[in-house]
Amino acid sequence: MIDQSAPTPGPDSLGTLAILWHGDRLALLDQRLLPDQEVWLTYQDPQGVADAIRDMVVRGAPAIGISAAYGVVLAAIQARVQDDWKTVIGEAIDVLAASRPTAVNLFWALERMKTRLQACQAPDEAIASLTGEAEAIHAEDVAANRLMGRHALSIMEEAPFSVLTHCNTGALATGGYGTALGVVRSLWHANRLKRVYADETRPWLQGSRLTAWELQQEGIPVTLNADSAAAQILRQGEVRWVIVGADRITANGDVANKIGTYSLAILARHHGVRFMVVAPSSTVDMALLSGADIPIEERDGTEVRAVRGVAIAPGKVPVYNPVFDVTPAELVDAIVTEKGVIEKPDAEQMTAMFGRR
Ligand code: MRU
Repeated sequence: MIDQSAPTPGPDSLGTLAILWHGDRLALLDQRLLPDQEVWLTYQDPQGVADAIRDMVVRGAPAIGISAAYGVVLAAIQARVQDDWKTVIGEAIDVLAASRPTAVNLFWALERMKTRLQACQAPDEAIASLTGEAEAIHAEDVAANRLMGRHALSIMEEAPFSVLTHCNTGALATGGYGTALGVVRSLWHANRLKRVYADETRPWLQGSRLTAWELQQEGIPVTLNADSAAAQILRQGEVRWVIVGADRITANGDVANKIGTYSLAILARHHGVRFMVVAPSSTVDMALLSGADIPIEERDGTEVRAVRGVAIAPGKVPVYNPVFDVTPAELVDAIVTEKGVIEKPDAEQMTAMFGRR
């Protein structure tokens, strides 16, 4: 069971949790409203959870997977009185799988839930078994994040330095602690961090609305910058690592992550700054040979034409809004998962660590 108490800044803090399971309902912190309002929404059916994922109430690859797993439990609770309970739960799994396409953690979590479901003989057994699996997925994510923090520190310099990050990869995006922000947390508590530069991350502003807020809550020094300021910051030499998360890592080490990550990787290589990707192994998709095979989500143009309902572009201007991009493995200096670190990733090292699919 995850500790659901309010965060206390310190080495053991998991940060601000955004997913709370109450045994028969799921509570999600509405990330669309942060940082101005902290509003919790409660879900008792899988369709509601699928909508919450699609509408970005909950976001971030691991958090999406965890929420979907609890969505399957809600389906089992609803279906307990139905003769075709197994079919009904299976249909709910399909609804949850259709919510967002890029983060593979969603499909990985649902696959685990499906395997559990197949072994169940009765509805009550299914509820208990699926609850256990969802809670395990949740707890394993937190444990992986802590481990990744330790692994990452083993390849970084001892003397304090600054880092730059993109999007939000903290407690809000995971079961707690965070991936790339988990590494930031670990660096800070080891007295090895000067400052975090946080890209604001247009268009959804995960960096300004969520990362800056999370880091401030923990007392970790953060400076917010427009995405377009990254080249200038990297040229100045204070930043030694760009540290980001991932939504899917393919068998050759290519990385899909929030739009803008690819350009940051190019900037980092140009300026001699190292580029680290931090993600649990649930983000690794060994079934895809390269990033070219990753489905890239495109979202509505209103996300670019307006900020929080205020127009910043002509109403009818056509918009191209891919929300992820793919960074080729050759631009990645290190991939960190709970299984360890791969430096200069390639297909051979990926297969050695994650096996073949
Ligand atoms: O669209 P989002 O906010 O779900 O995108 C999130 C990201 O791209 C994160 O970097 C990624 O999911 C890793 S979160 C630990």
